[in-house]
Amino acid sequence: MAKQFHNKVAMITGAASGIGKSTALAFAQEGAKVIVSDIVVEAGQETVQLIQDAGGEAHFVRADVSDMDDVASLVAAAVKQYGRLDFGINNAGIGSDWKRLADYELDDWTRVIAINLSGVFHCMFQELQQMLQQGSGAIVNVASIAGLRGLANSSAYTASKHGVVGLTKAAALEYATKNIRINAVCPVFTRTPLFEALFDVNPTYEERIKQNIPMRRYGKPEEIAQAILWLCSDSSEFMTGHALPLDGGMMAG
Ligand SMILES: NC(=O)c1ccc[n+]([C@@H]2O[C@H](COP(=O)([O-])OP(=O)(O)OC[C@H]3O[C@@H](n4cnc5c(N)ncnc54)[C@H](O)[C@@H]3O)[C@@H](O)[C@H]2O)c1
Repeated sequence: MAKQFHNKVAMITGAASGIGKSTALAFAQEGAKVIVSDIVVEAGQETVQLIQDAGGEAHFVRADVSDMDDVASLVAAAVKQYGRLDFGINNAGIGSDWKRLADYELDDWTRVIAINLSGVFHCMFQELQQMLQQGSGAIVNVASIAGLRGLANSSAYTASKHGVVGLTKAAALEYATKNIRINAVCPVFTRTPLFEALFDVNPTYEERIKQNIPMRRYGKPEEIAQAILWLCSDSSEFMTGHALPLDGGMMAG
């Protein structure tokens, strides 16, 4: 039996590590051809190698999502390589400095907004050009529970992720009749290098933060990947404009 994403093309930003890497591997397992993108070349190529070793198809393209020209070249390279673009997974992101707002350096703010928010805008802008031409597509933006509620000492990150949820909703309305669905996932703390960097700031965070999650555990990158796949699948074809919490129950409180 053909796999669910046979002959489909998925592009994932930030796919050298963490959630993006798991998502790239999961798409490949389901038969998609995968464009793996990141600013880190070696680790990005490792993701490609893992996919190829498992018998899948993947191609690496270096792109900095904060640069619109890079993203235009990325989508052009994806279409050149595989002829179309079915799924755009806008995942690349960074954490912000763990500080109160009045202690921020302006550069911290600018950098987080440029990558986490403008980066998603750049990707959606370029993906939509191609998806409109094809007459189909699905976009999943990786936001955060910090896109749904405030995260103290992380104002730039919180603002950037609320912005991602806003972009998701507005664009979903705009393209609802164009056979292009746009959703977001909102993970709680998930065990990846980005999150684990917080334990370097203060090792007691590891146990303390967990106590705020009703399931008393962190998310796994593979769990986020499976939700992203579902949002791209026919099983969710009546769903657009949602920001789906993957949070061990946190947003229920
Ligand atoms: N890990 C968590 O707890 C958590 C929770 C909620 C949301 N998220 C979000 O999930 C996404 C992935 O994060 P992760 O935890 O897997 O982190 P990660 O650090 O493991 O992976 C992020 C990847 O993005 C890449 N990247 C960074 N800046 C980039 C740029 N300018 N252009 C292209 N690529 C760039 C990095 O090189 C890295 O490979 C992020 O958007 C993050 O905000 C993570």
